[in-house]
Amino acid sequence: MRNEVNTNLRQQGRAELSFVADLGLVGGHLKRIVRHDIEARGLNAETLAEDLDERDQQIETALQDSRAYHNYRMLHRWGLGNLTRVAFDAFEQNRAELEPQLKRPTSGPATLTVAENVKIPKYWYNWFHNTTGGWDGHQYMGFIHGELIHRRVVGTTFPGGIFKQRADAAAQAPRSNYKRILDMGCATGHYTQALAKQFPHAEIWGTDCSIRELEYALLVANNNGWAWHLHRVPNEDTGFESQHFDLVTSYILLHELPADAIRATFREAFRLLEPGGDMLMSDVTRYWEMDPIAVWLQDSAAKREVEPFWRESATLDLKRAAEEVGFVDVESYGIGATKYPWITRGRKPR
Ligand SMILES: C[S@@+](CC[C@H](N)C(=O)[O-])C[C@H]1O[C@@H](n2cnc3c(N)ncnc32)[C@H](O)[C@@H]1O
Repeated sequence: MRNEVNTNLRQQGRAELSFVADLGLVGGHLKRIVRHDIEARGLNAETLAEDLDERDQQIETALQDSRAYHNYRMLHRWGLGNLTRVAFDAFEQNRAELEPQLKRPTSGPATLTVAENVKIPKYWYNWFHNTTGGWDGHQYMGFIHGELIHRRVVGTTFPGGIFKQRADAAAQAPRSNYKRILDMGCATGHYTQALAKQFPHAEIWGTDCSIRELEYALLVANNNGWAWHLHRVPNEDTGFESQHFDLVTSYILLHELPADAIRATFREAFRLLEPGGDMLMSDVTRYWEMDPIAVWLQDSAAKREVEPFWRESATLDLKRAAEEVGFVDVESYGIGATKYPWITRGRKPR
């Protein structure tokens, strides 16, 4: 990438962000002890309840005297409660260097269109990940979320690293060439970049409800000479011309949507694809692919992380949802040993 925003940070902000990221690693070790403590109390696939709320009660009760569990939960809560503050502080310490780069009027081949009278869905206003103010909670939230929170903290905890994962997800597209690609829920454009690399000749479009995320995507695209078409519209109702794309795709968008919104997003993807076009969605591992303790660890973490739709999304049969709106040759599978990300891809019939 050329002419990128200089994201070097002064020592204090950098150290605090690294500290929060390292808490995630410590949490990972504690999680293994928590699992051991659960099993040591005789809880396993045979004894744990099917119902997730009941299972939660069962494990919570059993772990009352587990120090590992109390420390793990406290660490997780502390990290989540402080992540946005630490990122905002790091930004303030570096505002003098960062702001001129972020404020510079962007000029270049990329465009950002903010349609009037768009109806942003209510669920979008949740403060996902406990992010103060939500997706638009700071004038420079795109930079803060994309570069400070995602790249420096959250992304480091993903199996294999989140940037490699995005490239792996893009590589799951059935064809090696596309004319026009839509990245739904593109945020600051990190997956969009993986798509641009994988399909250098394609015209690239991105949608998101967050103006702040899109503003930063616009800056990065223009700094790099990428002619992206960015639009602030909801994925369920983009207002774009029918059959305009030959690939509609997303990375870790779906778990932030209620099940009905996932179905509506698939319906819109179907409408937007030309006959023979592909849909490729990548998201979190399906619960039925995980053992019951892993499901509980994930499900209880998602609650703390303010991921209100994680459970209903992770238990949704995405293959069926894609087939219901008309996709054919639908496949749904996880990548690698962790089955993460979970891919759902299908084709619009000719
Ligand atoms: C986890 S982020 C996606 C990350 C991004 N794909 C990447 O690789 O960095 C989820 C994004 O989806 C956006 N979003 C959520 N619901 C949406 C909707 N209904 N329409 C458009 N964007 C939406 C959020 O604003 C947020 O930027």
